[in-house]
Amino acid sequence: MKKGQIYQGVAGEIRFPNRTVVTTEEGEKCTVANALTGQKVEFRVEKAKNGRYEGRLLKVIEKSELETAKDVCPHFGICGGCLYQSMPYMNQLRLKEYQVRSLLDQTGFDYKWEGIRTSPNQFGYRNKMEFSFGNEEKDGPLTVGLHKRGGFYDIVPVKDCRIVDEDFRQILVHTQFYFRMMNVPFYHKLRHEGILRHLLVRKATKTGEIMVALVTTSGLTLDLSSYVESLCNLPLSGELVSILHMINDNPADMVAADEIRVLYGRDYIYEGLFDLKFKITPFSFFQTNTLGAEVLYETVRGYIGTTRDKCVYDLYSGTGTIAQVLAPAAKKVTGVEIVEEAVEAAKVNTQLNGLTNCDFVCGDVLKVIDDLSDKAGKPDLIVLDPPRDGIHPKALGKIINFGVDRIVYISCKPTSLVRDLEILKAGGYVMERAACVDMFVGTQNIETVALLSRKEIG
Ligand SMILES: C[S@@+](CC[C@H](N)C(=O)[O-])C[C@H]1O[C@@H](n2cnc3c(N)ncnc32)[C@H](O)[C@@H]1O
Repeated sequence: MKKGQIYQGVAGEIRFPNRTVVTTEEGEKCTVANALTGQKVEFRVEKAKNGRYEGRLLKVIEKSELETAKDVCPHFGICGGCLYQSMPYMNQLRLKEYQVRSLLDQTGFDYKWEGIRTSPNQFGYRNKMEFSFGNEEKDGPLTVGLHKRGGFYDIVPVKDCRIVDEDFRQILVHTQFYFRMMNVPFYHKLRHEGILRHLLVRKATKTGEIMVALVTTSGLTLDLSSYVESLCNLPLSGELVSILHMINDNPADMVAADEIRVLYGRDYIYEGLFDLKFKITPFSFFQTNTLGAEVLYETVRGYIGTTRDKCVYDLYSGTGTIAQVLAPAAKKVTGVEIVEEAVEAAKVNTQLNGLTNCDFVCGDVLKVIDDLSDKAGKPDLIVLDPPRDGIHPKALGKIINFGVDRIVYISCKPTSLVRDLEILKAGGYVMERAACVDMFVGTQNIETVALLSRKEIG
């Protein structure tokens, strides 16, 4: 194979993160991301080193036998959001399970695999979307939507997106219509020119409360009152309680704000989980599938076992959801979270929920962990729910030194989990049980939960 050349072949076994080895008719092999097992694909070789090749998927020539889903989303294949929608749900689950188990089996633990727990909803399950402004093709009209598959600049106007409900779709379509009519340009990411950047929409599944946040540069001169009025007149099934204007002049392409202006209502929404209530601000981390989060937290609760009279640490606690799910039965739960806004929200939430045995510390786990037991008491049990890259090895060493009997590790990137499991193994822990929870139907993403117990010594 030669770098830069285009080939065809059939995709074989899948490995996390959605990588397959594609074999050409001549028997040559190349690793390609985002092809599905059984698909005949065209790809370009982009890396060639020591007889190993990596390629970029150009097109699917023949579907896989796994892709038998009926009535697939019209944006599938163009939109970069979902890769698995062409497969019926059972096949999606099988492919995700295979990828996670292949990784976990490499750890050598003799563990009980408990399968994938499914998302209660297969469609309309998301409570948050970050849409981008741009255009579908060069010099095309203003578009609001999601990035094209494999693209950074082109935006797909996902007016029929299936993973959100009709309220999200109405807000999206209306926003595009409104700003086209007003002739406001989008922010060009390369030239750093223009105004409209992102549209953040949150809708709480349990309460139906909706937040719309328009992100623009400080160059917007348009009075947004007619946009607000028109949003309020949309026939939404949920309740629009928050419309925000966020100013972001930072060139980095992420939803952020130098300033937040409340245009309507308040700057937060309420969501429910079990019988608890949570206040969610624009940037608070909150699981994007509320009903799926209940399945995830129920799994965590089952794995951690009895918390009666126990002191629990919830490390990487976000808005303190896990801490508060565990608190009613525990003696004390302490959360550690780096984002100050999330810690403040967690504190407010514990008050809302009448919990007096929850405390939250703001800081990097690696730094605050040294003094944590002086402030919060020695832990009996620990829950870990780090970001995608997993846990800093030094932080993990300190976590191991607490010597707790059980640790529950939640991971949205199984390769990071497996790396950290090796360190936990060396620190005297064994993985007893593991399961996945599918929070992201139609996509290749999956959450994994593992129960680790301290090996009896002697
Ligand atoms: C996957 S989220 C988990 C949130 C929470 N457990 C939940 O279920 O909603 C990971 C969280 O870790 C936080 N975080 C990232 N790096 C951190 C660090 N070094 N120390 C403490 N928290 C961190 C992020 O801000 C985020 O809220």
